[in-house]
Amino acid sequence: MHYRNGNQRRFSMEDIRKQYVPPGDIQLPPEFLQKLQLESPELPDTPKPLSRISRRASLSDIGFGKLETYVKLNKLGEGTYATVYKGRSKLTENLVALKEIRLEHEEGAPCTAIREVSLLKNLKHANIVTLHDLIHTEHSLTLVFEFLDNDLKQYLDSCGNLMCMHNVKIFMFQLLRGLAYCHRQKILHRDLKPQNLLINEKGELKLADFGLARAKSVPTKTYSNEVVTLWYRPPDVLLGSTEYSTQIDMWGVGCILYEMATGRPMFPGSTVKEELHIIFRLLGTPTEETWPGITSNPEFKAYNFPLYRCQPLINHAPRLDSEGLDLLTCLLLYEVKSRISAEDGLRHTYFKSLGERVLRLPDNTSIFTLREIQLQKDPGFRTSVFHPTARGKNRRQSIF
Ligand SMILES: Nc1ncnc2c1ncn2[C@@H]1O[C@H](COP(=O)(O)OP(=O)(O)O)[C@@H](O)[C@H]1O
Ligand SMILES: [Mg+2]
Repeated sequence: MHYRNGNQRRFSMEDIRKQYVPPGDIQLPPEFLQKLQLESPELPDTPKPLSRISRRASLSDIGFGKLETYVKLNKLGEGTYATVYKGRSKLTENLVALKEIRLEHEEGAPCTAIREVSLLKNLKHANIVTLHDLIHTEHSLTLVFEFLDNDLKQYLDSCGNLMCMHNVKIFMFQLLRGLAYCHRQKILHRDLKPQNLLINEKGELKLADFGLARAKSVPTKTYSNEVVTLWYRPPDVLLGSTEYSTQIDMWGVGCILYEMATGRPMFPGSTVKEELHIIFRLLGTPTEETWPGITSNPEFKAYNFPLYRCQPLINHAPRLDSEGLDLLTCLLLYEVKSRISAEDGLRHTYFKSLGERVLRLPDNTSIFTLREIQLQKDPGFRTSVFHPTARGKNRRQSIF
């Protein structure tokens, strides 16, 4: 696997175990909680925090950390370094997503996995997917997540790539909200794309796949040798920049806004050169004015791109209103430090129609707890494609 080679540090399973404590908000039926109390006689009636070791032992007694606790259902997707299955927890009867990372001949856990676990356990936010459990066997490491019905790509497919513009705004707000939380903690996502944004039946959008969040470089191939998409990668990274700044995530947010509003990917290039070419053809070839310092960038000079002029975005995304187009322009600025931040993005006038209260919610509270925040019916929504399973009924009831 391309990015597992080299001198990257290996972590032992014990390293991972030490790092990981299942989140306190996992929904356990009362009988399990009772069992937890019975097995810890030193606990008085009013529960006091368990020590890490005794808590881990008790959790293991009731089934955490064990593969047999989960029933593996159908395959949900194959991503950059893992295979994800739908599953059901025998403990809670809840649906889960089992992200299985094969260890093959590796001695330790792949760095991507340890990164994802160590980051996620500290991220507790309504717009970030919750990690419930971690299981390791001889051949695999499985991350157990809360289950969400769709990723954004599937969602767009299911509504025929024609989303209601109000819903675009609600998804966009949630994306920025989750991201602002990560950025406050100095965590970059680095792989934002529709496949890594999950959406549940309430319309809650959650950031997933933190596998690359602290990687030194972005891989070019997946473990099954598929090419990693370049479509959401900012031009500074395409031109070789390794600068570590939160603004590198913001370019992808712009591409995602455009894709939701038009139903088409914004810059679908298949090589670095083609990707840059498509970007420059639409936004204009960068100059000292639009990107200070660019004319002395050796990689940029070597490509010798034609001098394109910036095209009006409204011609390409006519369904976005002027505020939406303004936000898009702020996200797609060439100069990294000028790009709007996630925090400022939330306060952009585009979101004014959502009201003030969305800005004051506690981190763990969904925006749908507010009466004024409701999804509308997507015009392109096709009944037959949306949820062929029985769960589809619930979904339609709750969204529309
Ligand atoms: N919690 C989840 N609920 C439902 N589907 C999920 C969940 N997590 C991942 N998936 C599906 O599996 C795919 C791959 O998962 P991801 O975490 O992105 O792995 P990778 O690092 O391999 O890309 C996602 O694009 C999504 O379609
Ligand atoms: Mg992914």
